[in-house]
Amino acid sequence: MQDVIDLTVTPLSDACGAEIKGVDVTRPLSQRTVQAIKHAWAKHLVLVFRGQAITQDQQLAFASYFGDLGNRKKAPETLRSRAEGILQDNEKVLLVSNIKVDGQPIGAFGEGEFWFHIDSGYTARPYKYTFLHALELPSTGGNTKFSNMYKAYEALPAALKQGLTGKKALHLHEYKRSEKADISGDFSGIPHHYHPVFITHPETGRKSLFVDRLMTALIDGMPANESSAILEQLYEIGERREFIYEHVWQLGDFLMWDNRCTIHARTDFPKHERRLLRRCTVQGEPLFE
Ligand code: OGA
Ligand code: MN
Repeated sequence: MQDVIDLTVTPLSDACGAEIKGVDVTRPLSQRTVQAIKHAWAKHLVLVFRGQAITQDQQLAFASYFGDLGNRKKAPETLRSRAEGILQDNEKVLLVSNIKVDGQPIGAFGEGEFWFHIDSGYTARPYKYTFLHALELPSTGGNTKFSNMYKAYEALPAALKQGLTGKKALHLHEYKRSEKADISGDFSGIPHHYHPVFITHPETGRKSLFVDRLMTALIDGMPANESSAILEQLYEIGERREFIYEHVWQLGDFLMWDNRCTIHARTDFPKHERRLLRRCTVQGEPLFE
């Protein structure tokens, strides 16, 4: 069993993110180590472990220390081709990849730029945590950016904070990566859910801004043009450079982040280069203001 004595936490930016050293994520963890990781996680929101070689089973075993594993979401039939890959053999795992074998994608969500979003924010119980392990990387780009949404909340002008208190927003997932959600037609068949614009993080008790550019479509009970203008303002605050840690991946990196208080995005990368990351999650719970 590993001892917590060996664990070090080094912040990676002023916004969020910290590197953890002295933990082998492939081996069993003591309760003290789990507590130390949780403590660092609550403070830094995104944790980075470098140089890890983890099997799928080891990744799932590690993530299980932090809660019940989340299932990969099944897209509705009409959107299925955007979400399913042929090499995903475990319902708890999503391969984030652009790789194709015989013309068939092995995973999903793996191509090009990915706008800021919350993983499964369009469901009633958004994942608490996401864990991502780098297996193949392009020569450049494909960085993952994380924004600290506690800081975004704190930076909101008082009038905006007041005006949006008690409001909910519609989150909708069309399985796109860099295009606004479209609610002009009938979206009843597209996965969606309403969440408070501001949520209280169930563990830290801190308030966080809970909207993102990719999937948040409307502030409930507001005329469309007013809602769009306010959401744009919220996105701009949420995506301020000073709130962002940008992770430049190295092979063997293992990242874990908290979806209740961060949003994340991916920068573009060369189309013809391969990129493969293995993702798993911890199931969430309903969120309240
Ligand atoms: C994800 C995700 C970003 C990336 O797996 O949820 O958003 O950099 N990935 O591939
Ligand atoms: Mn994501």
